[in-house]
Amino acid sequence: MLDLKADLHKILLSRNKEWSEQMHRDNPELFTELAKHQNPFFLWIGCSDSRVPPNQITGTMPGDMFIHRNIANMVMHTDMNMLSVVDYGVNALGIDHLIVCGHYGCGGVKAAMGPEFGGAASYWVRGIRDVARIHNNELTAIADEQARFDRLVELNVAEQVYDLSRTAVLRDAWTKGRKIQVHGWVYSLGDGLIKDLGVTRNKYESEVGAVDVD
Ligand code: CO
Repeated sequence: MLDLKADLHKILLSRNKEWSEQMHRDNPELFTELAKHQNPFFLWIGCSDSRVPPNQITGTMPGDMFIHRNIANMVMHTDMNMLSVVDYGVNALGIDHLIVCGHYGCGGVKAAMGPEFGGAASYWVRGIRDVARIHNNELTAIADEQARFDRLVELNVAEQVYDLSRTAVLRDAWTKGRKIQVHGWVYSLGDGLIKDLGVTRNKYESEVGAVDVD
């Protein structure tokens, strides 16, 4: 008899067995192909939130998407984990479609709207507080708190798209003529739909106020 509390993980192993059998029935070639190589067309940077599983919400399969997730889908230039995923995805796997996908109701963004707190997560959401500071005028003009929260989720995605476009990996790839697109999307927990924010970047642009060091 299964002790639900102690043996919860066993449910996953048993579901995995069922899933594997189903996949073998539906697509006998899939595992043979995936065991040889991966050739994903998309690189996804999304939130760790359990309600935003990238493959499920986009109807994609194993092998379709190279994925990096963290709290509030951040692109931090000191994050070797994220940078390694982007480097490998762009340069080794040849991915041309990069997607930063946030979601409404994001706990990380919500935390950044509240008072400062301790612990590692407070350093992490520091980056979102900076986004709020950059867009302070627009955000403070929104009286409704929910609307302001939703807008900060969108602005945070747009800023992470921008930061991703500033990485040396993308600058070098664009300079070499790669046709890479970086998209910014927001997923709605309420209806399961993704909104394209229209903040796509597809070329290297000089930064405003940049000093030419060449
Ligand atoms: Co989130």
